[in-house]
Amino acid sequence: MKKLILMLCAVGLSGAAFAAGGEVNIVPKPLSVTLRQGTFRVTPQTEIAVEEKNAELKRAAEIFSEAVAPVVGGEMKTGKQGAIDVRIDPALEAEAYTLEVAPSGISVRGGSAQGAFYGLQSLRQMIVDGEGSVPAVRIEDKPYFGYRGGMLDPCRHFWTIDEVKEYIDILAMHKMNRFHWHLTEDQGWRIEIKRYPELTRVGSMRKETLFGQYMHSNEYDKTPYGGYYTQKEIREVVAYAAERFITVIPEIELPGHAVAALASYPWLGCKGEGYEVRTTWGVSTEVYCPGKETTFEFLQNVLEEVLELFPSKYIHIGGDECPKDSWKECPLCQQRIRQEGLKDEFELQSYTIRRVEKWLREHGREIIGWDEILEGGVSKTATVMSWRGSKGGIAAAKAGNHVIMTPNTHCYLDYYQTKDPVYEPQGIGGFLPVSRVYKLDPYDQLTPEERPYILGVQANLWTEYIATFAHVKHMLLPRLAAVAEVGWAYDRKDFEDFSHRMQSLRKSYDAAGLNYATYFFDGKDE
Ligand code: ACM
Ligand code: ZN
Repeated sequence: MKKLILMLCAVGLSGAAFAAGGEVNIVPKPLSVTLRQGTFRVTPQTEIAVEEKNAELKRAAEIFSEAVAPVVGGEMKTGKQGAIDVRIDPALEAEAYTLEVAPSGISVRGGSAQGAFYGLQSLRQMIVDGEGSVPAVRIEDKPYFGYRGGMLDPCRHFWTIDEVKEYIDILAMHKMNRFHWHLTEDQGWRIEIKRYPELTRVGSMRKETLFGQYMHSNEYDKTPYGGYYTQKEIREVVAYAAERFITVIPEIELPGHAVAALASYPWLGCKGEGYEVRTTWGVSTEVYCPGKETTFEFLQNVLEEVLELFPSKYIHIGGDECPKDSWKECPLCQQRIRQEGLKDEFELQSYTIRRVEKWLREHGREIIGWDEILEGGVSKTATVMSWRGSKGGIAAAKAGNHVIMTPNTHCYLDYYQTKDPVYEPQGIGGFLPVSRVYKLDPYDQLTPEERPYILGVQANLWTEYIATFAHVKHMLLPRLAAVAEVGWAYDRKDFEDFSHRMQSLRKSYDAAGLNYATYFFDGKDE
């Protein structure tokens, strides 16, 4: 604790550190920043020394070099020797790093290649901010939360592999370490499953899409829409993310949000016929039938292929927004309720989730589910993703379940960014400026004993009303930076100071050619 206080004093009252060499402004906020005299200038002739045998570290250095090349004037070489020295320091925690800049050279030390990668991300921000000239400084840094995620929905609108990679690049520059890929939905099934070709032949296409606002429009664009990722492409994305120390968590939705699967294989539903990939938004009453054994066989066979593609410990199984209408009418679902001694349809949902969880645990994985998995009872080993505000997550943590906080009150980046959104592109509604995102408190209402159950935070980007990738970035940036700072620097966050440092991160967005919303920078964050 004493050490922590000393470090915080080193940062001073403002996280923006000043000295003759300049200013250090990093988002998310480092643990300590101690400015020294002088600067180091990075040029294309500067070389990066990395341990040759450490392929992860070498790749991290190359990715860094590529990112700063437009500012530095060219890519720096990596080799055995160089003025930027990147190494592992086993005394540090895996995600921690120290970054020391002196007029004679730069040293980056990571507790692992991942820690070093984060040190290089901080250096990247400083190089862009100073146009190649970096002030002498010593930075010590490590994240507060272990889980720092971003979710993307490629089902409502589809994103190409290159766009998904750009999303991953954006997560990486914010020191996020999880990419939650929402791969199945009512409006489209997006992952190739070799055993069930109809999922992509039929389920990846919808015949048209609602035009305008859900509930207020009955106009359709009369244009077929679809897309999916082959298993080869998925492997490529998983590897791309891994080089950036991001684990990809696939979401295979059950028992609801399954209309595209039902349209592909109608025997998966209670009614057994008459399904069509959904062309409008909202929640469908057509869901998987857990009364049939064949539904579980299907889910396990799908998951078997999913596990081959994704090394992630966690598999997200959805669990949200599953109306019980069809189960109430279905003789097989009712029979299942009686046979298993279940009280009602909520317990049938719980039975379904537990059964899939059991199978996944037998295969060495754990589940994440949206907070509805609490209804009807949840196993102690399930991780709850709290989205309907924080209340589900609070209840789950109090019950001893692990939790990821992604409340729609703070983390739904598909919401509007200004109070009077006439100047914004069409959105789903809501109001979530950067300042409100920043107020996210993942520990709200939790005692010190309950807090360790909170694994971290996540930004969610649903795409009903987002049809272009430029719009994705407009919604994501700069609000993602606020989520990142809560995740990385919860114990040291300060909005005024963040706002100042964001002027520097903005330059990194510009240098990377990223589209972003300017409301916050224009003083219209309200
Ligand atoms: C959700 O937004 N339905 C998880
Ligand atoms: Zn049924």
